[in-house]
Amino acid sequence: MDFRKTVFVRSAASPAGFPADGAKRLVFAGRSNVGKSSTINRIVGKKGFARVSSMPGKTVHVNLFSTEGRIWLVDLPGYGYSKTSMAERERYSKLIEEYFDYDMKNIARLYVIVDIRHKPTEGDIAMIKWAQNYDLPITVVANKSDKIKKSEIEPSLKLIRQTLELGDILIIPFSAEKGDGRDALIKDMLEA
Ligand code: GTP
Ligand code: MG
Repeated sequence: MDFRKTVFVRSAASPAGFPADGAKRLVFAGRSNVGKSSTINRIVGKKGFARVSSMPGKTVHVNLFSTEGRIWLVDLPGYGYSKTSMAERERYSKLIEEYFDYDMKNIARLYVIVDIRHKPTEGDIAMIKWAQNYDLPITVVANKSDKIKKSEIEPSLKLIRQTLELGDILIIPFSAEKGDGRDALIKDMLEA
């Protein structure tokens, strides 16, 4: 499996556009602006592949990428951006909910991306609790590690693990910007 051979398939604004085959889904969720799209770009090794912006709320649809017809990479809209209008937030969370309702049984791994610099938000906690409730296999990706000192990485991971009550769930320190953690993430994706 070569993630560099990933292609963009489509943006789905409703369940009619969600994947219809049995290929396994690797799903990227997380708060708005945390770097879900950037993480996908790093995995496939192409800048500007999944759309990235300094404006939170850029990913408004469920963006679907296919790797060699065998894996779907699913880029979800972000949750919990306070400056997004209530109506928009409701639309995104409805779409995210519809996606999970539709595809739950095909999800091989849910990647919850968090910001390594901050204590996880209520939204992060809710996402993890919800996924655990449905027995979804989860890996946490602690992104933006380039923004902190090396010596701060371990304490940050510890805080994230404790706040999210991760137990034995894997957490990968990662930098979509610099590429740190890419090998660990790809290994996990191949094993999913
Ligand atoms: P939404 O689609 O709005 O939910 O955002 P997203 O989670 O897809 O985030 P996106 O990938 O668009 O990145 C948001 C911003 O964070 C962009 O300005 C990125 O360049 C920046 N960013 C993402 N990952 C990293 C990282 O590892 N390090 C640094 N320094 N910046 C990052
Ligand atoms: Mg995005």
